Amino acid sequence: MITASAPGKIILCGEHAVVYRQPAIALPLPDLRATATVETVPSVVGIVCDLPDLGERWLLHESWDHPLAKLLRLTAEHVGVHTLDHLLITLRSAIPIAGGMGSGAALGAALVKAIAAYLGTQLTADEVSRLVYESERFYHGTPSGIDNTVVSYEQAIWFVRGLNGAPPQLEPISIGKPLHLLIGDTGVRAPTHVTVGGVRERRLRDPERYNALFGKIGRLARAIRQHLANGDQVALGAALDHNQALLHEIGVSSPELEQLIGAARQAGALGAKLSGGGGGGIMLALVRETQRAVVAEAIMAAGATQVIPTIVM
Ligand code: PMV
Repeated sequence: MITASAPGKIILCGEHAVVYRQPAIALPLPDLRATATVETVPSVVGIVCDLPDLGERWLLHESWDHPLAKLLRLTAEHVGVHTLDHLLITLRSAIPIAGGMGSGAALGAALVKAIAAYLGTQLTADEVSRLVYESERFYHGTPSGIDNTVVSYEQAIWFVRGLNGAPPQLEPISIGKPLHLLIGDTGVRAPTHVTVGGVRERRLRDPERYNALFGKIGRLARAIRQHLANGDQVALGAALDHNQALLHEIGVSSPELEQLIGAARQAGALGAKLSGGGGGGIMLALVRETQRAVVAEAIMAAGATQVIPTIVM
């Protein structure tokens, strides 16, 4: 039996603008993971995929179009294996599904690593990331590639999308002082391809305005990288707030997100913003360690379905 796992992620800054080749920063969530187990079961005919957290169980040869089925085939082909039989694959995830925490990419990365290991191959982070990117495309259409990258490399990254399918520019991020973050879930599920599609349409109608907003978000990402390296959390918090204002302007915030963000700030967060696709999904708040409990309580009282604390070092 082979088991492999991959972390969830959050985008600290730069979402949406990253689709238009502005820089973004993503952080792995090492304690929140997806796990894939691959085992030989003689009584299984073909390949059975079991996703108990989703209540899904399917046979590969009856589910050719399932993104994870495609990813499985891509991975096997990548390592030069064309037929697989008598396999039970179990996929579990502690990452909220479709919540902007990279559950899809993490499940994909765990699956790729487990299948490759089962077939006797250790893939590099880059190989895992490229394979998962293919499956992200089935879900999202035109993903920037930031999700598959951060969950495959499992480190804080500076990410700039490559031009016309070229590889992204990737750099590790240095974090001068541990970040205490609270992730608040609005409980509203807003598929990323919908919010990304909305931004694409609005940009087509008013390219100048949107390109200017994306440029501002890119400049903020550069400033945020510096604040992270310097451990200047007051400046970092203010920059996160500014990023949120720009995300609101490009139309990807929501009343629920504003509610949670406002409550976090009022309770003393250093900064707060939506994270990921927006339109619902999650927000993050940067807090001083001593304020964690009180801000978490305020986010819950403002209607969050859950608050996940995390420390990024
Ligand atoms: O919804 P998430 O967390 O998968 O974030 C998507 C980030 C976007 O910038 C909105 C889209 C993308 O492909 O980068």
